[in-house]
Amino acid sequence: MEYFRVEGGRPLEGTVRVQGAKNSALPLLAATLLARGETVLRNCPELTDVAAALDILACLGCRAGREGDTVRVDTSTLSGCVIPDGLMGRMRASVLFLGALLARIGEAHTGWPGGCALGARPIDLHLGAFRTLGALVLDRGSLLSCESAGLRGRMLCLPFPSVGATENAMLCACGARGVTVIRNAAREPEIVDLQNFLRSMGAEVHGAGSGRILIRGGKPLHPTDYTVMPDRIAAATFLCAVASAGGEGELTGVCSRDLIPVLASLETAGCAISKEADRLVIRVKRPLRGIGRLTTGPWPAFPTDAQPLLAAALAGGEGTTEIVETVFERRFRYAGGLRAMGADLRVAGDTAYLSGRPLRGAEVKAADLRGGAALTIAALGAEGESRIGGLDHIDRGYRGLEKDLSALGASIRRIRSTSGTKSSDT
Ligand code: UD1
Repeated sequence: MEYFRVEGGRPLEGTVRVQGAKNSALPLLAATLLARGETVLRNCPELTDVAAALDILACLGCRAGREGDTVRVDTSTLSGCVIPDGLMGRMRASVLFLGALLARIGEAHTGWPGGCALGARPIDLHLGAFRTLGALVLDRGSLLSCESAGLRGRMLCLPFPSVGATENAMLCACGARGVTVIRNAAREPEIVDLQNFLRSMGAEVHGAGSGRILIRGGKPLHPTDYTVMPDRIAAATFLCAVASAGGEGELTGVCSRDLIPVLASLETAGCAISKEADRLVIRVKRPLRGIGRLTTGPWPAFPTDAQPLLAAALAGGEGTTEIVETVFERRFRYAGGLRAMGADLRVAGDTAYLSGRPLRGAEVKAADLRGGAALTIAALGAEGESRIGGLDHIDRGYRGLEKDLSALGASIRRIRSTSGTKSSDT
């Protein structure tokens, strides 16, 4: 059993280099299957979700290994098309291996993907895209079988700009002969990174970052050497940590453009931020101001993954904020933990009503990845000691959150306890 011990209420001062993006590394690892040979992925963060992706590749017969932040995947020994339930259930993004396997060998069999319990997370849009491109998809309850005797490029219109379904459609379309056009595609920065990666493998892909992506598929692709984009949600985590505790923090290795909606909200809350293309400095004099109304949504709206992080920083400030969550049903599971720290936070349906006031340390438990990061952020701004359990959730997306926050000057330690921690119900 592990937990973070945080001594809060002290301003931060320090510098952190932001990790590579989890949400880009995972689709890129799936995409390595599209070419035969060894692909090198640099700036690939050491996270439990990335380890799960490497385990899937190994289970399919590929050779996958890591040296520091560099991962090598040799797909020339690819020999399987079955992803066992146990591996599939470890994370949501495992579903991306289906599109890549269909494209490379025309077959994939598996159970249902896992991931954070953020509400119903169907994969109907993914499966619909495979079917449109000519795959036979059989859903036998807990078993999924996808097969194709020859994928064909088609016009695909997504009813919602799902990030994962767009990525899966792009991967699958690389193996479909002719032109595929994805309409109402997700426009998140990670989609652009996937396009850049696919192009570096020789694929013809255009339009990522807009709602219309065109792929001319069916060409053989080659392995590549590629650097994963910076993690915008990890960057948002560090910005919100400084916003919560006050002080000054420098973030290097970021892509500031990818953080525009988050930076705008932090500035509205009273943070001063100097911006360069790959470096940010945030200066914060507490208390933060409430920001009125914030609505999450697909890019370029405010990212749902950063919503808990900002809420945690604002909880210890002044004034009111209304947060409307439009992407996931159960994104406020951190609310109980914040309330245990004294936050004035009420959730009704898809909206959270927050009224800032000083927080105090408490013993809480992460219920999901970003919710756990949010509780840690709140703890940094709360007077006294906090203990945050449920670190297995947090480790899915951060390569040692406590180390990066320590680099920013936070007083935080990972404690390994043999007896376990008591935790409040979040
Ligand atoms: C990705 C990110 C996640 C982020 C989310 C939204 C990764 C590994 N994860 O998740 O961190 O919070 O984008 O920015 O990149 N939906 C359906 N049917 C589908 C697919 C999605 O109804 O087939 C719904 C989902 O239930 C959800 C919404 O669409 O309500 C958004 O999901 P989606 O954009 O697909 O998110 P993910 O790709 O799962």
